[in-house]
Amino acid sequence: MSQINKIAVIGAGTMGSGIVQKIAQEGINVVMVDIKEEFVERGINNIRQTLKQAVSRKILSPEQVHDILSRVIGTCDYEMVADADLVIEAVFEDKQIKYDLFEKLDKICQPKTILATNTSSYYVHEFADKISRPDRFIGMHYFYHPAKNRLLEIIPHDGTSAETLEKTALAAKLHAKTAIVVKDAPGFAVNRFFVPFCNESVRMLEEGLANIPTIEAGAKKALGIGMGPFELMNVSGIPIAVHASTTLGNELGPFYATPALLKTQMDSGEYWDLNGDVDESKIPAVIDWYYGALLGVTATLVQEGVASMEDTDRGAKVGLRWSRGPFEIMNEIGIEKTCQLVEAICQKYPDFKMPEFLIKQKEIGKPFVFNYVDLHTRGDIAYITINRPEAMNALNETVFAQIGQRFEEAEQNPGVKAIVFQGAGKAFVAGADIKWFVDKIKADKIDDIYAFTRKGQDLLLKIENSDKLTIALLDGLSLGGGSELALACQAIVATPAGSMGFPETAIGIFPGQGGMLRMARQVGPQLAKYYVFTGSPLNAEDLQALGIFTRLAAPGEVDSTISQLVSEGKPDKYRQRELPDKFKPLAKMCSSDNVARLLAGEPPEGVPEDLAAKTAKIVSSKAPLALKMANEIIDAQVGKAIPEAVEVELSRLHESFGAADALEGLSSFSQKRKPTYQGK
Ligand SMILES: NC(=O)c1ccc[n+]([C@@H]2O[C@H](COP(=O)([O-])OP(=O)(O)OC[C@H]3O[C@@H](n4cnc5c(N)ncnc54)[C@H](O)[C@@H]3O)[C@@H](O)[C@H]2O)c1
Repeated sequence: MSQINKIAVIGAGTMGSGIVQKIAQEGINVVMVDIKEEFVERGINNIRQTLKQAVSRKILSPEQVHDILSRVIGTCDYEMVADADLVIEAVFEDKQIKYDLFEKLDKICQPKTILATNTSSYYVHEFADKISRPDRFIGMHYFYHPAKNRLLEIIPHDGTSAETLEKTALAAKLHAKTAIVVKDAPGFAVNRFFVPFCNESVRMLEEGLANIPTIEAGAKKALGIGMGPFELMNVSGIPIAVHASTTLGNELGPFYATPALLKTQMDSGEYWDLNGDVDESKIPAVIDWYYGALLGVTATLVQEGVASMEDTDRGAKVGLRWSRGPFEIMNEIGIEKTCQLVEAICQKYPDFKMPEFLIKQKEIGKPFVFNYVDLHTRGDIAYITINRPEAMNALNETVFAQIGQRFEEAEQNPGVKAIVFQGAGKAFVAGADIKWFVDKIKADKIDDIYAFTRKGQDLLLKIENSDKLTIALLDGLSLGGGSELALACQAIVATPAGSMGFPETAIGIFPGQGGMLRMARQVGPQLAKYYVFTGSPLNAEDLQALGIFTRLAAPGEVDSTISQLVSEGKPDKYRQRELPDKFKPLAKMCSSDNVARLLAGEPPEGVPEDLAAKTAKIVSSKAPLALKMANEIIDAQVGKAIPEAVEVELSRLHESFGAADALEGLSSFSQKRKPTYQGK
């Protein structure tokens, strides 16, 4: 598959400039085109202003802003986009303007160029049908503010080629988007339920169910959102809500159409008045109404194949910032209650039908089961994608079990030579679900934690010993269990964004999935102790220097690097190696004579004083018991075969999770506070 090296955006308005900012922010050069110099300039200024805010909030440094802006070329010359791999259109929502633009781009651009539209209200295929490259045409629907909201709907139409879809997904990943693939249908996935969310809020008011503050409070409670629908409409513009519901109503019928009161409000030119008292007694009815309408709509769109359940939940959580997705809500309230509430909405609106999908689930009588791990095979390489970007792909029982299933399937495929593990979105895998551990400890079910950990260890051993080449594609952050998964693979292909870290001792436990032993086997027990005791992150440069990365590749060259690695055969990750000088003092601080000092809170000897003092300070903030156990385990693992060394770790697990410090550390993490350790 050829790569994405150059992206262009047409339109330097609200969306175009935001998209350009995000692309440049993620390190990619981007061309931004508008019809007049002053519009280009305005777009650049928009970017500058947003970045300035990021500097004042200390999210970015002035140097980073300088680098980001240097990647943006603003122009009125369309010829500048001719050799782009991807051109994203973000001009006025006017069909004729878009037609004309795509006709022009079709002529100017090289055959390789994919053309994408950010339209909100037209079908993607309408534009594709008008050009000579419908197979290289696709929808990319961003959400406001596109540099801040991670969600991206990718919309292939019937004629979009598989290669175009793959390349677009790669482009999405390269600019750190959480992409969901949705059908070319009215409102795509998210607006299909966002429009009813606004509409039903207005209809509750129209029917006198409650006043605005009560509906706002009900919406926040129902969906776990920070801003209610009326405030949101005030902020984003009531005409936009009217426009969106008019479009959807025309396509899908009266339930989706603009409520009369919404139109009246727009005509008045006034904002919604948010003042007034919340009537608590009416909140349950407001919540029921929302659930009935929104769960019904989302079940319908899944039934129609517009998006999967998982992507619909993702759209709600990432795009609209709901605390749970609609299908998670259905599982929470139960399928019986869900059907009851949807039925009440069906009674209200003649064109709103109970989705078969819900009736079937009610017959099954069980919660929905979500798929968080995907397997797809390209040539002789199987890709296992941990697809839970909304939780930074954190591991839990379900995710681990599904990784195991997908791995088994890939292993059994005789056509597969290599199995690549990757994370969807920006992170690889950011550790495990901490709250699950807290709940298990509180329920006195440490046996469950043990069973989960043993299963994980068994799976990692299988990955390490597979006859196929197993590769971790580390193109983002990994922490804890994520780093341990990567270390268990036979090879690691990384990009400069790839990183590792073992933050466990800060939260009262030790790394429990073989990370200590696999680090120690590669870089020696002393340096492994340093990273486990301090939790210091290892960036791509460090990991490359230490030989933990098998290959370091630019983001656009990952696929070719993997193919090359596969053709070369299995590397030996446990080969002998010399530590680069930079790491020698770090290892020295954890030598056998220094460890006791370090664990007693004293600076280690034989290294520069400031480094010793700094390290002692960091280590003194960690859980003492977890440090002690990690130290003993790493020592005991030396010289043992890996399966035996795994048993050493497992044999200390009950002790670790049974300690008061484990509960304190893990709870403090969930509660975002500093832990207080007692050493027991
Ligand atoms: N605003 C949102 O929240 C949102 C969200 C998702 C998608 N969209 C879609 O994104 C698109 C752009 O929306 P916006 O809010 O950024 O609009 P906008 O009015 O802020 O910007 C449009 C820009 O396109 C430029 N333009 C118009 N015709 C052009 C042409 N032929 N060549 C180059 N530039 C041209 C204009 O000069 C203007 O700068 C629309 O299709 C809209 O439906 C908007």
